[in-house]
Amino acid sequence: MRSHIFSLVFLLFSVAQGLNPNCETQDRGSNLQVFHVYSPCSPFRPARSLSWEEDVLQTQAKDQARLQYLSSLVAKKSVVPIASGRQIVQSPTYIVRANIGTPPQTLLMAMDTSNDAAWIPCTGCIGCSSTVFDNAKSTTFQTLGCQAAQCNQVPNPSCDATANSCVFNMTYGGSTIAANLSQDTITLATDSVPSYTFGCLQKTTGNSVPPQGLLGLGRGSLSLLSQTQDLYQSTFSYCLPNFRSSNFSGSLRLGPVGQPLKIKYTPLLKNPRRPSLYFVNLTGILVGSKAVDIPPSAIAFNPSTGAGTIIDSGTVFTRLVEPVYVSVRDEFRRRVKVTNVTSLGGFDTCYNVPIVAPTITLMFTGMNVTLPQDNLLIHSTAGSITCLAMASAPDNVNSVLNVIANMQQQNHRILFDVPNSRLGVAREPCS
Ligand SMILES: *[C@@H]1O[C@H](CO)[C@@H](O)[C@H](O)[C@H]1NC(C)=O
Ligand SMILES: *[C@@H]1O[C@H](CO)[C@@H](O)[C@H](O)[C@H]1NC(C)=O
Ligand SMILES: *[C@@H]1O[C@H](CO)[C@@H](O)[C@H](O)[C@H]1NC(C)=O
Ligand SMILES: *[C@@H]1O[C@H](CO)[C@@H](O)[C@H](O)[C@H]1NC(C)=O
Ligand SMILES: *[C@@H]1O[C@H](CO)[C@@H](O)[C@H](O)[C@H]1NC(C)=O
Ligand SMILES: *[C@@H]1O[C@H](CO)[C@@H](O)[C@H](O)[C@H]1NC(C)=O
Repeated sequence: MRSHIFSLVFLLFSVAQGLNPNCETQDRGSNLQVFHVYSPCSPFRPARSLSWEEDVLQTQAKDQARLQYLSSLVAKKSVVPIASGRQIVQSPTYIVRANIGTPPQTLLMAMDTSNDAAWIPCTGCIGCSSTVFDNAKSTTFQTLGCQAAQCNQVPNPSCDATANSCVFNMTYGGSTIAANLSQDTITLATDSVPSYTFGCLQKTTGNSVPPQGLLGLGRGSLSLLSQTQDLYQSTFSYCLPNFRSSNFSGSLRLGPVGQPLKIKYTPLLKNPRRPSLYFVNLTGILVGSKAVDIPPSAIAFNPSTGAGTIIDSGTVFTRLVEPVYVSVRDEFRRRVKVTNVTSLGGFDTCYNVPIVAPTITLMFTGMNVTLPQDNLLIHSTAGSITCLAMASAPDNVNSVLNVIANMQQQNHRILFDVPNSRLGVAREPCS
């Protein structure tokens, strides 16, 4: 009994926190600091530290749910089957600080490049964590009526006639959410966006909803980009820090000002079957200097099936459709030359002796990105196991997507330049 009370108090205490005070530096201009959810700055860091194996296995389970979610993001089909069996915790990996309302209330929102809308837990929300936006305390808050144009842009809209309020619901990973379509001022670093439209969460189920809300950076009509055309011109970049590092200079830079000039580009493609996602044209993969055999159909961009390659901020480990992964893995193993290959969870190429790994180069139209070891290998804390940090898309997903995930993007500046339909990549140590 006593221990139950203690753990409840601890839980309430721990979920209500903001950033670790040592990390409370100011966001300036249009630059926001980006934190990994498990970084020492983050209040969402698990109370009990996981063993390396548990950590890897849990992250893979989350990725699996996210893959399912990404594969399900097909135009006009917003309700997705929830992964069966045990509940899967799945939520995006990086958080930024946002100020909502007047006077501002600070929330640590998860950034998600594959989702359009933003949602924020509001007062009275059933199933949300204890840190919520108290909309009654904001003088600029308003709910949107059923006639509002934005009410047609949310999934499953319905009208609460008595309150004249546009409400909507959707599934997200292993969760469902229900929200009132609302508006308030959002302040990101020192930029204020008045009348920003978002879902004020009334109810959530499951474990996938980021505790302090989600900032959608996708391409669709309700995303931050679409709502800030004049301010940011659909341009942003980020550099994602590694979660183990204690240096946190990762950043989200909004708008065309201050973006790197020396950067390589590949065209951004728009896939009408999956309109929120950022597609690029992956044309081949080198392991060391060898171009591996890939059936062209496995990486082809296909607007009618929704197949192709996306850049995603929320998946942790890169997933390649099976024939692509198998070719990469086989060549990687050949080059490592250590015969005792073991596995760990979904990773099938692990070693329990030190290895010298080849680089892997992702070739896109007009741009090659060579990934160094830090972006390719995960090492156990004790240093005794090393795995190639990629996998094939999970079996239970009828997957037609290759996903370039955040571990492979860490310590690179990734620039999304929508007006010029291009994606830039440059090496930039930020953790
Ligand atoms: C979601 O909205 C639809 C249509 O408005 C409604 O029929 C359904 O019951 C809602 N589902 C949940 C889980 O609230
Ligand atoms: C949200 O909508 C529900 C009805 O669906 C209503 O009862 C509630 O008051 C609304 N909340 C706000 C903040 O307007
Ligand atoms: C953090 O970064 C600073 C400057 O870039 C560097 O001098 C310092 O050694 C780094 N600290 C750690 C723990 O990596
Ligand atoms: C992708 O690259 C391949 C190989 O260069 C090319 O044939 C194809 O037309 C490109 N697809 C798109 C959509 O750019
Ligand atoms: C290969 O790895 C397994 C699992 O770690 C270990 O038990 C075995 O002794 C290793 N075999 C050799 C020949 O190193
Ligand atoms: C990418 O690398 C391949 C193989 O080395 C080379 O043929 C190609 O020209 C490179 N592409 C670019 C854009 O540098």
